[in-house]
Amino acid sequence: MVTAAPLGGRGAPHRPVLLEETLKFLAPERGGLFVDCTLGLGGHSEAVLKSSADTRVVGMDLDTSALEYARQRLGAFGERFHAFQSNFRDIAAVLQQADERDPAGILVDLGVSSLQFDSPERGFSFRFDAPLDMRMDPTRGVTAADLLQELPESEIARIIFEYGEERHSRRIARRIVERREQGQPITTTTELAELVRAAAGGHKRNQIHPATRTFQALRIAVNRELEGLGEFVETAVDLLMPDGRFVGISFHSLEDRILKRELRRLSGQCECPPRLPVCSCGARKVVEVLTRRPIVPGASEVDENPRARSAKLRAGRKL
Ligand SMILES: C[S@@+](CC[C@H](N)C(=O)[O-])C[C@H]1O[C@@H](n2cnc3c(N)ncnc32)[C@H](O)[C@@H]1O
Repeated sequence: MVTAAPLGGRGAPHRPVLLEETLKFLAPERGGLFVDCTLGLGGHSEAVLKSSADTRVVGMDLDTSALEYARQRLGAFGERFHAFQSNFRDIAAVLQQADERDPAGILVDLGVSSLQFDSPERGFSFRFDAPLDMRMDPTRGVTAADLLQELPESEIARIIFEYGEERHSRRIARRIVERREQGQPITTTTELAELVRAAAGGHKRNQIHPATRTFQALRIAVNRELEGLGEFVETAVDLLMPDGRFVGISFHSLEDRILKRELRRLSGQCECPPRLPVCSCGARKVVEVLTRRPIVPGASEVDENPRARSAKLRAGRKL
């Protein structure tokens, strides 16, 4: 049972990342349908629903605990709020199921929620000793422990290097595989954090914990977070009504790159190498990019919520 009490790091109330900026670009005071593709704790949705009595929200999340939490929090909005367990890549099917169309705004706030990160048993954080799970949808799919048990060493190293930008990736992967060859596979958060600390060195004051990058990389791999993200942006933009807004918040440079590239391509900028005689990237002008550079949180937001530090927001307006 999850109760809808405020949650957040260091005992601070949960505050949705880049909330004012998100509302500025979504402009929910216009009323209409808004789709929250990553409900989480429902913070952004709550603000959208409060901004006008004429807004409706269709929300979705992979995580049943998030849905339970958001439904409790937003239950008072009655028929103006509906939530579905779904991958946001299936946004078109969700809208069909909700019997809704022509959203005035679509928000995707990528990554992990405070609810997931602060729940020890979910295995997202090395702050708690727990099974190494990390699935956003804990009812299906392989866990992080499964990946470390099954993948070849080179693939583990690639994941840690590409998704975690960890320079000690090969050394970490070698130690993980040595452990499993000795019949002692890594199955808990603490075992992994200690292995990484031993392989990559301890951490100095004011530096992130040495296991941060490896945990992030594994989470991205377990949940296939980058797969189909570009196609999702295109589908979302196609679903928007004219003058509808798309807002994407990312926490990782690879995600931000995909959002940036897709919005540019959908604003008509061809991404093909200049030597190609005809465009093959599918560029078409259906969006006006509203953020020439990504919007990032100010110092006071980062101070209040250190997890916001790597957030980047990009937005577009459907033509
Ligand atoms: C950063 S949180 C969202 C926080 C939310 N905006 C709020 O104000 O509380 C991201 C959420 O997205 C969900 N999620 C991540 N990938 C998803 C996907 N592909 N489809 C649906 N939900 C996803 C996670 O389970 C998590 O609850």
